[in-house]
Amino acid sequence: MDLKETLQSKGLPKHIAIIMDGNGRWAKQQGMLRAFGHENGTKSVKQTVEACAELGVENLTLYAFSTENWNRPKLEVQTLMKLLVSSLKKEIKTLQENNIKLAAIGNLSSLPKKVFKELHEVIEQTSANTRMTLTLALSYGSREELLNTVKEISIKVKNNIISAEKIDESIINEHLYTRNLPDVDLLIRTSGEQRISNFLLWQIAYAELYFTSVLWPDFTKQHLYEAIIEYQKRERRFGKTSEQLS
Ligand code: IPE
Ligand code: IPE
Ligand code: MG
Repeated sequence: MDLKETLQSKGLPKHIAIIMDGNGRWAKQQGMLRAFGHENGTKSVKQTVEACAELGVENLTLYAFSTENWNRPKLEVQTLMKLLVSSLKKEIKTLQENNIKLAAIGNLSSLPKKVFKELHEVIEQTSANTRMTLTLALSYGSREELLNTVKEISIKVKNNIISAEKIDESIINEHLYTRNLPDVDLLIRTSGEQRISNFLLWQIAYAELYFTSVLWPDFTKQHLYEAIIEYQKRERRFGKTSEQLS
């Protein structure tokens, strides 16, 4: 059995989420500007998307820009937005060829018009694809998402569409940006930081966390396989005892 088959035989995560971190430090190590790190980070995105699709991972969610990232220097924000538009333009073909559907979560209306437009075009053009859903978290913050959810549900309660007593976890799930996605099984963060940075707080309630010191532009298919191998060694007990599982 080759590595791919071995990974598949042991049960793949249905949903992998990645906090792609370390572009700036990677660039600095080479004596380059941060933008150079972001540009090289797109290569790792491509590798990861391809690896997940090849393996048969059904959902991949990438943290590309947080609500907090708006506080970065204006020029860096502009660079990231430009890079997003050019990557979308460039990769639409790859998405189509590989039958990958693009989705986005976050406060999308706060994105520059050009980004919003390009994003929606690619989402629309790939909407019938079925092999994998690639979700980009853009201008995404988990607290903002939860706030939004509370507001939407409150309005429905006020208008007698939902009764307050009937609010349960599934109703909350249905109002999150991630309403079409299953819970996260494996959360990966690169660059050695061990924090969540306002990413998918509700959705990672039972995710396996995997931290690696590899900086995002150095992240390859091999690193993804390593993360999945580690995931497959873990026993996901969901509150039960080990004996109950076997
Ligand atoms: C991740 O790399 C990319 C984004 C957050 C947009 P960083 O830009 O955070 O890189 P470091 O953490 O400064 O090295
Ligand atoms: C998290 O990375 C956000 C993204 C990867 C898009 P940051 O680099 O912004 O996180 P902090 O600020 O170090 O926690
Ligand atoms: Mg960072």
